[in-house]
Amino acid sequence: MIQNRSQWGTRFGFILAATGSAIGLGNIWRFPYTTGENGGAAFVLIYILCVILIGIPVLIAELTLGRYTQRNPVGAIKAITPRGLWKILGYLGVIAGIAILSYYSVVAGWTIGYIFKTAFHETTNFGAFVANPINEIFYFIIFLSLTMFVVLGGVKSGIERWSKILMPLLFIILFGLIIYALTLPKASEGIKFYLQPDFSKINGRTILAALGQAFFSLSLGMGAMITYGSYISRNTNLISSATIVAFSDTLIAIMAGLVIFPALFAAGMEPAQGPSLVFNVLPTIFSQMPGGTIVGMFFFILLAIAALTSSISLLEVGVAWAVDELKFSRKNATIFLTLIALILGIPSALSQGYSKFLSEMNLFNKTGFLDIMDFLFGSFALTFGGFLLSIFIGWKWGAKNALDEINYGIYKNYEFLKSGWSFLIRFICPIVIFLVLLNIFKIF
Ligand code: PFF
Repeated sequence: MIQNRSQWGTRFGFILAATGSAIGLGNIWRFPYTTGENGGAAFVLIYILCVILIGIPVLIAELTLGRYTQRNPVGAIKAITPRGLWKILGYLGVIAGIAILSYYSVVAGWTIGYIFKTAFHETTNFGAFVANPINEIFYFIIFLSLTMFVVLGGVKSGIERWSKILMPLLFIILFGLIIYALTLPKASEGIKFYLQPDFSKINGRTILAALGQAFFSLSLGMGAMITYGSYISRNTNLISSATIVAFSDTLIAIMAGLVIFPALFAAGMEPAQGPSLVFNVLPTIFSQMPGGTIVGMFFFILLAIAALTSSISLLEVGVAWAVDELKFSRKNATIFLTLIALILGIPSALSQGYSKFLSEMNLFNKTGFLDIMDFLFGSFALTFGGFLLSIFIGWKWGAKNALDEINYGIYKNYEFLKSGWSFLIRFICPIVIFLVLLNIFKIF
């Protein structure tokens, strides 16, 4: 085991950093529009089931493998099985991380743009805003550079410090917005759509969307949590930590929906409009409510920061790999991988109306380069990665060995929880994910 690997300052610091990775655009941008596209409440219910039955067990598994091996995803797999093809799973994680970072930073750039748009009462609509290539590239580069600077700072001073104060603030502002949204006329129609399930709307695609969203939102399936786990000390209880992270993440997503859907129905907009959803709905709330300019600015600032505490984990996976395995310096690894994300992100940035070709290309039922990247890496690769990881940890490394590691930091005998985890990771996770993946191939 590697000595002197940097570690989180405290258990609380680790939980905040992991929560910071989980909570991001996935909760506030992706969750509401995916719910809107998949018919509302029934999707929300399936989503919650996916988090409990699959998300939490995989999260525990990733943290455990990371803490045991103290490596990046590729190194962690090599530490368990030095030979064979399993390490491809680690590379898949590094690639998915950079690919997601590329378009994630484009969307995060929109939130930065919206800080200024709100401040200056600029009324161009979302479509026009994102079709402007100068806006797109400028804010994209700003956000990606911020990510790079934080990652250059390293684990404790960079990542941990940022997460501490800002996440609680986001919670408070969302809470205030819910109260306001609920007072809007027609709010009850939004609540009905969001919370009253209509099971006829569920099909294989809905389940894939829910599972993919759970992986995306909890930062699973690409080794981000293996990497974060590698900086945890052995007196941290992994089961309770994972549960706290998953609970907070789900709470923020549900809260975001409680703001968006009442406001959406109040404004008479369409729930299934895709990635533009929150950028169309939120400004209408801010333009009507008293003090909306300040609240709106503050909201977009916090959202950009939430995105930053996630994007750093997307980049950190590749950086940890290049530093551990390729012996890059931290600085060179960070700059090199940021440049790759920059090049890869440009087509996403131009796919929002500026380039007809990139905006209208159609693959896997998704339209536009950014949406296709999000489906391929944000849904498919993470879900597939989660499938392989559950087999790797449950069977190849073995749930028994993993439990020996989990036992550190647990001072009571939670036999029931431990055997529950071992059952879920060995049987339920691989089987359910496999069935869902089979279904995608029908869609292909
Ligand atoms: N969980 C982040 C969000 O919800 O915005 C996105 C993300 C971060 C996905 C890190 C995957 C990951 F490894």
